[in-house]
Amino acid sequence: MKIYHLMNISQYLLLLLCLLGDIGLASTGMKVKPICIEEERKALLSFKQDLNDMSGRLSSWVGHDCCRWEGISCNNRTGHVAKMDLRNTYDKSTAVEEWDELAYSQSRLGGIQIPKFFGELKTLRYLNISFAEFTGEIPPSLGNLSNLNYLDVCFSSSKIYSKNLNWLSHLSSLKYLNLNEVDLNSSTGWLHVVNMLPSLLELHLSLCRIESLPLSLHKINFTSLLVLDLSFNDFNTSSCPSWIFNLTSLRELDLNHNSFSAPFPVELGNLKSLEYLDLSHLGLKGSGVPRVIGNLCKLKTLHLPENNFDGGGIEEFWGSLSNCPNNTLVLESLDLSGCVLEGQLPASLGMLKSLQYLDLSCNHMNGSIPQSLGQLSELVELNLSFNSWEGILTEAHFINLTKLKSLSIGNNLDDIEKPMPIVFNLSYDWVPSFKLHTIVIRNYKVGPGFHVWLQSHTELVQVVLRGTGISDSIPKEWLLKLSSQLEYLDLSYNQFRGRLSSNQLMRFPKLHLLNLAHNQFEGPFPLWSTNASYFDLESNYFYGPIPSSFDKLMPKLEELYISENHLNGTIPPSICNMQNLTVLSLRSNHFSGEFPHTWSSWSQITIVDAAYNNLSGNIPTSMGILSSLEILKLKQQQFWR
Ligand SMILES: *[C@@H]1O[C@H](CO)[C@@H](O)[C@H](O)[C@H]1NC(C)=O
Ligand SMILES: *[C@@H]1O[C@H](CO)[C@@H](O)[C@H](O)[C@H]1NC(C)=O
Ligand SMILES: *[C@@H]1O[C@H](CO)[C@@H](O)[C@H](O)[C@H]1NC(C)=O
Ligand SMILES: *[C@@H]1O[C@H](CO)[C@@H](O)[C@H](O)[C@H]1NC(C)=O
Ligand SMILES: *[C@@H]1O[C@H](CO)[C@@H](O)[C@H](O)[C@H]1NC(C)=O
Ligand SMILES: *[C@@H]1O[C@H](CO)[C@@H](O)[C@H](O)[C@H]1NC(C)=O
Ligand SMILES: *[C@@H]1O[C@H](CO)[C@@H](O)[C@H](O)[C@H]1NC(C)=O
Ligand SMILES: *[C@@H]1O[C@H](CO)[C@@H](O)[C@H](O)[C@H]1NC(C)=O
Ligand SMILES: *[C@@H]1O[C@H](CO)[C@@H](O)[C@H](O)[C@H]1NC(C)=O
Ligand SMILES: *[C@@H]1O[C@H](CO)[C@@H](O)[C@H](O)[C@H]1NC(C)=O
Ligand SMILES: *[C@@H]1O[C@H](CO)[C@@H](O)[C@H](O)[C@H]1NC(C)=O
Ligand SMILES: *[C@@H]1O[C@H](CO)[C@@H](O)[C@H](O)[C@H]1NC(C)=O
Repeated sequence: MKIYHLMNISQYLLLLLCLLGDIGLASTGMKVKPICIEEERKALLSFKQDLNDMSGRLSSWVGHDCCRWEGISCNNRTGHVAKMDLRNTYDKSTAVEEWDELAYSQSRLGGIQIPKFFGELKTLRYLNISFAEFTGEIPPSLGNLSNLNYLDVCFSSSKIYSKNLNWLSHLSSLKYLNLNEVDLNSSTGWLHVVNMLPSLLELHLSLCRIESLPLSLHKINFTSLLVLDLSFNDFNTSSCPSWIFNLTSLRELDLNHNSFSAPFPVELGNLKSLEYLDLSHLGLKGSGVPRVIGNLCKLKTLHLPENNFDGGGIEEFWGSLSNCPNNTLVLESLDLSGCVLEGQLPASLGMLKSLQYLDLSCNHMNGSIPQSLGQLSELVELNLSFNSWEGILTEAHFINLTKLKSLSIGNNLDDIEKPMPIVFNLSYDWVPSFKLHTIVIRNYKVGPGFHVWLQSHTELVQVVLRGTGISDSIPKEWLLKLSSQLEYLDLSYNQFRGRLSSNQLMRFPKLHLLNLAHNQFEGPFPLWSTNASYFDLESNYFYGPIPSSFDKLMPKLEELYISENHLNGTIPPSICNMQNLTVLSLRSNHFSGEFPHTWSSWSQITIVDAAYNNLSGNIPTSMGILSSLEILKLKQQQFWR
């Protein structure tokens, strides 16, 4: 007590506070974040040294408590590392632009092999190194992680592989396994190993180059499985593996891009919990879309493209959809493209109330398109191209499609002997309730109200109006209204007329394809984009010279078709700087002077056609070194010896 006498009041209070603080800590001791295990901390630090942490994401990996480090969590009781999340943090879905390689590579951590010491973190429950760009063999020591629930190793652009999956069989708590794009070519017996994981709920083995796919199993152990993805492995078998039909809890089954040259398996009807089924590109056979699909009452996604339902109809399938009262209400995505289907589209189409995506392209369906299409009020994407439809499309077909973003319809222009059987007949005053991003109409006639209708679509990114019979001066206001987001514009084989105004200069910075061929456009060479790789002005009335700094104006050009116009002047030598040029077609214009001599940097060129011009002089001697050149036409010119 003597000591307290010597203190003043404030010192006393301080001491008291400290004591109370200690008591407080002790009483809530279980809630205090655990301090990490020293050996694990040291191992993590030495691992950090080897990593390629370009974004400085691991800057928090300092100090004693590794449990607070970015990407690390510890077990509350023991303080052992329980979770390691070292995924690539680049998120494509939030990216404004398309894939950003730089951002991606700066968000990775790897560049080294997956360290063996991961296998010592015995209490690890979660390990995610997806897209982190580790390389080499997955260390079999991961088999020591008997508590692991989640293992996600998917994708590395440099090879990541496992010679033998036996290590997996020790992970008896595993619920989620994703080895997408890990090379498992030499690891036979993968199914046997997976069969020792009774807790497994999700198995992702897409693009693993697995060759062996056992068709039967003695007894199946992993029947709790909810998700099975074996897509893109190039399995080549004569039937669908039968053990799959015992996985009756499955919600998602993806086998696309393999080869089972077999009849459509009716046993699929056992998998009544399926919500997602992708059997694309499997070479399945049958007559018509299998009725058994009608038993799968929870199906939201059905993708069967590129199978051979030889000449079968679609009506029967539609009928089977009414087997269970609900499935016409839940189906959201239906892809039956390229399935060799015949027959008409039934009016009951309109009952698929939740449908967002419908692709029936590349079949032999005929008859008229039912008006009930207009009732699919959730529809976002519609593709009816390459069939033999007849009749008229009116606004009734689109009346309630308020969410539609993409519309594709029409046939190959090559079927030129067939008359255009369908007419897009929209009234002048109809303002649609949707704004398209993509419109593709090929070889189908559009009626007079179409222009007006088109002008209400101000958010277009892809436009194909090819062979639509439009014969009009191009509505300038339409071109001006087109969004600067435009990437693809094909107006070929119409009778568009008129001078394209020069104020369109670089108007479409994102445009990479422009096709105005076979119209009656006039005006100087249209410079609409510095991003174009495909440019086709063939058979129009364009006049004047090719701009002299053409290589700078269109540096990315790969194919240039400007034949059958009234272009003149000399061919600018700068054209020879365009390294990626593969096709240069200048035929039937009024070009004069010599063909430029400096074309040695054309490493990709396959076709040069400059015939029917007023060119003079000698064939450039440098021409002989162009090994890629396949066709050279310079005839009807004075320098031809
Ligand atoms: C650890 O603590 C967090 C938050 O206090 C809690 O959400 C989590 O369930 C706990 N984990 C374990 C394994 O007890
Ligand atoms: C692992 O990270 C990726 C992102 O790269 C994410 O998509 C995936 O869902 C994560 N896996 C698990 C099991 O959480
Ligand atoms: C971890 O696994 C490897 C290979 O499977 C094995 O050789 C090693 O003894 C194991 N280490 C521990 C600590 O269990
Ligand atoms: C099923 O799993 C159990 C537990 O992992 C294992 O002992 C058994 O061998 C497995 N059966 C087969 C056929 O692999
Ligand atoms: C697997 O490897 C063998 C031998 O290296 C090779 O011939 C085969 O094409 C590979 N299979 C796949 C699907 O990559
Ligand atoms: C699949 O289920 C059937 C019927 O329930 C059963 O007879 C068969 O043994 C099972 N097959 C496997 C591989 O488990
Ligand atoms: C699949 O195998 C058969 C014979 O086993 C063969 O004829 C066919 O070409 C193979 N298909 C592919 C795509 O490899
Ligand atoms: C049909 O849908 C309703 C509502 O979504 C649901 O309650 C019911 O269980 C479903 N019936 C069947 C047979 O799936
Ligand atoms: C549709 O094609 C089938 C044969 O594929 C033919 O029998 C039928 O008459 C055609 N229907 C129409 C309306 O053209
Ligand atoms: C269009 O939708 C409205 C409101 O949802 C509905 O009243 C009308 O019946 C629908 N029309 C058609 C043709 O489906
Ligand atoms: C030419 O093509 C290559 C390969 O596609 C590409 O990397 C390069 O950027 C292109 N060059 C130009 C000038 O666009
Ligand atoms: C190119 O044609 C235009 C008329 O279209 C003419 O005015 C001009 O002089 C011609 N230039 C050359 C170099 O022949």
